[in-house]
Amino acid sequence: MRTNRRTVAVVGLGYVGLPLAILFAGKGYKVIGIDLDDRKLEVLAEGRSYIKDIPDERVKRAVEKQKFTSTKDMGRLRDADAVMICVPTPLDQNHEPDLTYLMQAAVSIRDHLHPGQMIVLESSTYPGTTREVLKPMLEQSGLVVGSDIFVGYSPERVDPGNRSYPLEGIPKVISGITEECATVIEELYKTVFQNVVRVSSTDAAEMTKLLENTYRFVNISFINEMAQLCSSMGIDVWEVIEAARSKPFGFSAFFPSPGVGGHCIPVDPLYLQWRSKQFGMSSSFIAVSSEVNQQMPAFIVERVKEALSLESLSGVNILVAGVAFKANIDDVRESSSITMISLLRQEGARVAYHDPYVSEITVQGEELTSTRIDEIEQGLYDCAIIAVNHDDLPLQQILDQVPLVYDTRNALKGLSGKARVIRLGANDGSTD
Ligand SMILES: NC(=O)c1ccc[n+]([C@@H]2O[C@H](COP(=O)([O-])OP(=O)(O)OC[C@H]3O[C@@H](n4cnc5c(N)ncnc54)[C@H](O)[C@@H]3O)[C@@H](O)[C@H]2O)c1
Repeated sequence: MRTNRRTVAVVGLGYVGLPLAILFAGKGYKVIGIDLDDRKLEVLAEGRSYIKDIPDERVKRAVEKQKFTSTKDMGRLRDADAVMICVPTPLDQNHEPDLTYLMQAAVSIRDHLHPGQMIVLESSTYPGTTREVLKPMLEQSGLVVGSDIFVGYSPERVDPGNRSYPLEGIPKVISGITEECATVIEELYKTVFQNVVRVSSTDAAEMTKLLENTYRFVNISFINEMAQLCSSMGIDVWEVIEAARSKPFGFSAFFPSPGVGGHCIPVDPLYLQWRSKQFGMSSSFIAVSSEVNQQMPAFIVERVKEALSLESLSGVNILVAGVAFKANIDDVRESSSITMISLLRQEGARVAYHDPYVSEITVQGEELTSTRIDEIEQGLYDCAIIAVNHDDLPLQQILDQVPLVYDTRNALKGLSGKARVIRLGANDGSTD
């Protein structure tokens, strides 16, 4: 290594930052985790984790070996040879990029910069952010990027809940503002990640992330449109997808759902759309996908009403199984289940939910807590909607105790019970 970088700071210890910090600590680096959230810092100081994919023992081990400390003291940035920025990049009220967190983090870093330091932005953002926003802010320190300090972008590809791909095994795309910056970043990242993919510019690396997530957004929305078409034509979309994926080339399977949720897939394409407008361009794929995505919860509520042969859902007891935005995680940000629960309640339904990962949610200002499995077994519900395919949903109890189940994920494939089952994208009501 050109510089012996042994101390790294991770700014923002959320779903992205904490796994990254613990990975570097596990590789022998001294890691300073920085966050503003006192609750998170308290948990970490006790050697515990709040991210499901990171077991307590990994945090405890890193803390005990003095490889990981967490703090809100930005002054500790002075001690770091490398700084990774993992703060949120949400949308503002106008559905446009909100870089407030990034700019706050950049100010803190600028105020504690020293020559030789490397700064890598990991948050998802539009092409041009590192070059046009981060670089000028850091250069207000008087230090020059490319000679005094090294700045780049490396998109985070962690997939919470996905046990097949540990973080260090996911190829890491890296880039630098200058060739020198990219080389310095590549040298460090190669010591931690199994495969580092260097691209020619920070813009290309930023666009890589947006391409990946927009690709998912467009394809998930497309398959949801196919589900709606199949459902109206009496064709089983799940059967069709299985048949199509028997083709060994040219087809990647995506599956129907109540819509795309989370902090990334529904958000990142809008960053790209916003940036496109600055170049006099627009993306009709993104616009149409957003439209289909927004329709999905209402589509499902309508299908449930039809299946119950009711004009109104007033007084109907409905259980929503799964409220996280995807399987095996506890993250409910932008979850279509929550939108669905709101719509069902607006229709007059009495809605409960069960989620083994999410103990409480807020819907329309009201707190709901996850129903226990023994409550499901009391047979109180007229209908259940399987909204997320968590591995450990009580599917058999639902099939045995609820007369009608609307399965949006084909989660009941291979199971049988007393319930009448309707599947999203298939209208035959069988459970296979
Ligand atoms: N969650 C994912 O699966 C995922 C995957 C890939 C990329 N990303 C991207 O990574 C970025 C972070 O996402 P996340 O899901 O980890 O968010 P998060 O909300 O879970 O975590 C962000 C953390 O940053 C902290 N923070 C905010 N401002 C700060 C500041 N100025 N200084 C220090 N800490 C600060 C917050 O308190 C929070 O703990 C986003 O750009 C997101 O789009 C997320």
